[in-house]
Formats: sequence, structure tokens, C-alpha cells
Amino acid sequence: MKASKRILDTYAGVLSMNTALVLIVINCLFLVFQISSNAPSIYERGWWPPRPQLMGCVNATTTTMDEPLNMSSIDLSRGDVRFFHPHGIASRLIVEVGSYRNGPRTFSSVVMTSKHLNNLHEILYECEWVSSDDPPLKVKARPIKPDWNMGRLYGTMVLVCEFPRDVGTDAEGGRLVLTAGYAEPVFRSPERFVALTEMRGEYNASRYAPPYPYEITFCGSPLYGNISPQRVREWIAYHAWFFGEKTLFIFQDAGGIHEEVYRVLKPWIDIGRVRVQNLRQAEVYDGYYHHQFTMLNDCMLMSQTLANWTFFFDVDEFLYIPPSGEPYQPTIGSILAEKARNNVTQILFQNVKVSDGLCWKSTRRVLDEPKISRKWAFEKLVYANCDYGWKPDESRKYAVQPQRVWATGVHRSEHMKLDGKQEDMEITTLRAYHYHNTANGRTELCREFPLSPNGEPNSLNVRNCTLDFSMATLAPTIKSYELAMVGKQPFIL
Ligand SMILES: *[C@@H]1O[C@H](CO)[C@@H](O)[C@H](O)[C@H]1NC(C)=O
Ligand SMILES: *[C@@H]1O[C@H](CO)[C@@H](O)[C@H](O)[C@H]1NC(C)=O
Ligand SMILES: *[C@@H]1O[C@H](CO)[C@@H](O)[C@H](O)[C@H]1NC(C)=O
Ligand SMILES: *[C@@H]1O[C@H](CO)[C@@H](O)[C@H](O)[C@H]1NC(C)=O
Ligand SMILES: *[C@@H]1O[C@H](CO)[C@@H](O)[C@H](O)[C@H]1NC(C)=O
Ligand SMILES: *[C@@H]1O[C@H](CO)[C@@H](O)[C@H](O)[C@H]1NC(C)=O
Repeated sequence: MKASKRILDTYAGVLSMNTALVLIVINCLFLVFQISSNAPSIYERGWWPPRPQLMGCVNATTTTMDEPLNMSSIDLSRGDVRFFHPHGIASRLIVEVGSYRNGPRTFSSVVMTSKHLNNLHEILYECEWVSSDDPPLKVKARPIKPDWNMGRLYGTMVLVCEFPRDVGTDAEGGRLVLTAGYAEPVFRSPERFVALTEMRGEYNASRYAPPYPYEITFCGSPLYGNISPQRVREWIAYHAWFFGEKTLFIFQDAGGIHEEVYRVLKPWIDIGRVRVQNLRQAEVYDGYYHHQFTMLNDCMLMSQTLANWTFFFDVDEFLYIPPSGEPYQPTIGSILAEKARNNVTQILFQNVKVSDGLCWKSTRRVLDEPKISRKWAFEKLVYANCDYGWKPDESRKYAVQPQRVWATGVHRSEHMKLDGKQEDMEITTLRAYHYHNTANGRTELCREFPLSPNGEPNSLNVRNCTLDFSMATLAPTIKSYELAMVGKQPFIL
């Protein structure tokens, strides 16, 4: 009881001190304004602040800066106290994004952090569990930095807290407090904040073990730019069908889920199949690719209590299971269940490139012409196993059992827990058709129809293409599935 009171008092202290600082700063600015209205402009050369008035708002326990400084070792009573007025982007040590309990004694927080500060200083991260029952329990946090080599101001950090014993499992409630302190004694106080609060009665052990509410979650990368509503409509209808009902799709909106895209997702949101995270505010922080790694990690950690498996790929990629040719045709559920039985934590699947402009139409050209623009992208674009004159990237995407990784990335998790096992899927078992460049724009896609005779290059400069109608032939099934699930939908290119 005492212990948690002490913590509360510390926060109260910090809070009121910050408020006081702001007031003091305002007070000082007001003084400066008064002075400068009777005096030459502050920007004129040779202007010097008249000391007596300004000293009136500075003393040994306060600062003129809006920064949480440790003032006990700064003496402002000597010399000319200089003022420092910051403008522009400040570099924060920690920007909290999400904190999650992952088990009886494990927590993870995903934050953005200034990479430069972390590179210049040794920063110590600490977790503390504070409850009314027991004395606080402190452990070092383990920082994982999945996107450290991307050249932006902020990087992603996953702070893992593993306590030596179970905490809060009596459902008495408690708080996870994080501290980030500089190892060198600079004038900075450690940053200390409550990352997660558990109310009395909130802890429920069954959340941290199967069965989870869903079998699968999908974690999308942040969407931005002028995304085509129709392409998103096609993607969600297809994957809602492909993954089945016990799947939750989590989309990240960095500006790309504009009004018309939202309209397309809305019916799926209403029936509980889709959730949208709005991260538009976070654009003020300079991070890699609209905070892709940060949000994928956040989504993965959120998924640890939501589903057996989590998929990571993009809205221009379409998962596909080729016909087995056997009486038994696997489904995504049966494939994942088999991997789980074999203790596979992570599966990687390969992307196959589809042309973004090479379309197929039947020989009855004249009749088809007006209809082609209304066709779905995966209905008309053809698999371009072509001779491009270069070899397309064999990019991979993946799925993990989220409970069995510490942190994750865009193309795979490199932070599997101890017993983690990874498996590359055969392209004949599971693959993704990659309709590169088709979702981020709102134009007709077809630029060329197959194929120049005799393997001559066509206007897209590809030749000797193999046609693959796997996706195209699924179109009627997907359209009637969409109709059954969410009713008639508009075509908004
Ligand atoms: C410093 O200034 C603050 C705000 O004016 C005041 O509350 C505090 O008592 C002063 N401290 C000292 C030591 O003068
Ligand atoms: C502030 O600085 C003093 C003197 O250097 C030190 O004793 C104290 O622990 C520091 N306080 C914090 C919160 O770091
Ligand atoms: C814990 O969660 C499970 C599954 O959601 C639920 O059935 C059970 O009633 C919960 N227990 C308590 C004590 O709330
Ligand atoms: C998810 O886990 C539950 C419980 O272990 C299991 O019954 C179910 O088959 C699993 N689903 C998948 C897709 O792995
Ligand atoms: C999976 O792991 C469990 C527990 O470590 C072990 O008992 C089992 O034999 C493993 N199964 C396979 C197929 O490797
Ligand atoms: C196209 O494929 C045929 C048969 O494989 C081959 O003979 C021909 O050289 C190829 N054409 C080009 C332009 O690569």
C-alpha cells in the first residue's frame, strides 16, 4: 500500500512541477513582451535583456525551459542566466505506442525512440510492477530494435519485461511502470511513466492461453496515399473468403483509408471482421515508412491474446493455395494446424509477380470491351510468368504464432522465442500473387492484352508469358461471397 502511494506521490510531484514550469515560462515571455514593446526589437543587434526584470522569474529550483531537467545541480544564482527558446522538432526519448500483458509474468511495450539519442547515450530501460499487495518488483527491460538500420529520426523499440515470478495474477490490479534513464549523469531526470494499468478483477488467466477469440489476425502495413477503394474492396472480399470467419483484419490508416476506402471497409467493420487503427496523428514523428515496423509490432503484440496465427502482407498481395490434385484439398486452416502440430512458429511464403497492365479478355473482343474496366483486378490481370529481361524479386511475406515471438518485421520475424522453428512454404502449397502497383492509384489497369504472336515483346516489353487463370476463375465465387456477407457494394475506382 505504502509503496504504491509513494509512486502516486512522485507522479503528482512531476505533474505539478511541469504545470508550474509552464506557468513560469508564460510569465517570463510576458515580461519579455512588455519589455520589448518599449525597447528596440528583440531581433535588433545589440539588444540585451535587462537583467533585473528577467531574473524575477528564475530561481534555483526552476528552469526557463520547458524541459524536465534535474535542477538540483544547476545553480542559477551566479552569472548572466541565458535563455534558450526551442523551436522546431524535438527528439523524444520515448513515444509510447502500446503496452500489453503477454502472460502471467511477461509484458511488452512498443515505443518509438530517437535513434540518435540511443546511439549517443547508454540508456537503461527498467520495468516495475507496482501493486498494493507486494513491494514493487523491478527488472531490466530488454530493448529489441527491429528497424534500427532504417535512416529516420525515430526507430521502433519493443521493450520486453520478464519478471522472475508471476505478477498481478491474484487479480488485485496493479501497474507496469517503465523507466528510461541515461547512464551518464547529465542534467536529465530519468523518464518514468505508467505504461499499463490493470484494474482489480481484470486479470484473467484464460486470455493468455488458447483458445483465442480468433484463429487468425491479419496485420496490414500502414496505408497512405490515393488508394483505390475498388482494389481494397476486392482484397477484403477475397481474403474474408480465403481465411474464413474466425479471422480479424487489422488495417492501419496513415492517410490511405480516405473517405471512399473507409466506405468500402465499413460493412466489414460492422460485421466485426475488420478493425481500423487511425495513426494519422503519428505522421508528425519522423519514422520509417509511416511507422510500418512500429505498427506491425503493435499489431503482433495485440494479436498475442487474439489469435493462433498472425499474417503480415500487403493489400496488393493475394494468398492462394493451388489445387493439390488429390481428393483432399488443404485449406489455410488445415495448413496452419499441421504447422502448429509440427511446432513450426513461423511460415514464409513466396510472392509471384503479376503484371500490373497485362490483361486477359476473351476472343469476343467487341462485346467485352466496355465490360473490361468493371472487372476486378484479379479477374483480368494475368500472371506474368514472363521473360522480363530481368528476374523479378522473390520477395517473401509471412505468418507467425504471435505468442512465440518477441518482436517482428516486414518480411519475417527475426526474434522468435527459444524453441522457434521457421519453414519456407513450397510455392505449390501456399503462395501470394503480387499485383504490384495496382492499389495505389485510381486508374484503369489494362494497358495491353495478350500476347504478341511469336513471343515478340509487346508494348509492356515482356515476352513469352505463361497465362495463369487461378485467381481469375475464383472471381464469381468471391463476388457471390461478398454479396452474401455484406450485400451489394458500389464500384468506386
Ligand atoms: C522559485 O520560484 C517559484 C515560482 O515563482 C516559487 O514558487 C519558489 O518558491 C521559488 N523558490 C525559491 C527557492 O525562491
Ligand atoms: C538530480 O541530481 C542530484 C544531484 O546531481 C542527484 O542526487 C539526484 O539523484 C538527481 N535526481 C534525479 C531524479 O535524477
Ligand atoms: C475469463 O475469461 C473467460 C473467457 O473469456 C471467461 O469464460 C471467464 O468467465 C472469465 N473469468 C472471469 C473470472 O472473468
Ligand atoms: C487454434 O487453436 C485452437 C486451440 O488450440 C485449435 O482448436 C484450432 O484448431 C487452432 N486453429 C488454427 C487455425 O490453428
Ligand atoms: C513439439 O514440441 C513438443 C514439446 O516440446 C514435443 O513434445 C513434440 O514432440 C514436438 N513435436 C514435433 C512434431 O516435433
Ligand atoms: C520464347 O520461348 C521459346 C520457346 O521456349 C523460345 O524458343 C524463344 O527463344 C523465346 N523467345 C524469346 C524472345 O525469349
